[in-house]
Amino acid sequence: MKEASLEIKIYPDPVLRKKSQDVQQVADEEKRLIDYMAETMYANQGVGLAAPQVGVTKRIIVVDAGDGLLKMVNPRIITKKGASLLEEGCLSIPEKQVEIQRAEEISVLYRDEKNSRTIKSFKGLTARAIQHEIDHLNGKLIIDYLPWFKRIFPKKGEVKCLQ
Ligand code: NI
Repeated sequence: MKEASLEIKIYPDPVLRKKSQDVQQVADEEKRLIDYMAETMYANQGVGLAAPQVGVTKRIIVVDAGDGLLKMVNPRIITKKGASLLEEGCLSIPEKQVEIQRAEEISVLYRDEKNSRTIKSFKGLTARAIQHEIDHLNGKLIIDYLPWFKRIFPKKGEVKCLQ
């Protein structure tokens, strides 16, 4: 498994701030990328991974928060319900955890690896992970949710952010 793992880009790598592009067609290249991304996510005990985290600015994410592997191309949240607060980590920002409020339930329009358009609803940790990964596609990171004083004085903030 390990040999198929891709290198995870670590903050402040500039690729993590880029806005990813829509995929016109899921071709062999994208399918291979999706498989590598899934293996990389599992090898690093992550619950999700977005393409820019492996240096590719395409709108592709993989998520497995315990309900099986989801492969999503061009994911778009179309409805949101409820709100919950939870500490999140990110494979691209090691040893940092940030409390983030996100929708509890979402429905997502996306393309699967066979190019079929799908709309599905998700809740709980899976919904949270999808929202986190879609943030990556827009160049947004968990540290952007920190209050301004923790961004200016990161050391002081860190004490509270680590569990
Ligand atoms: Ni992340």
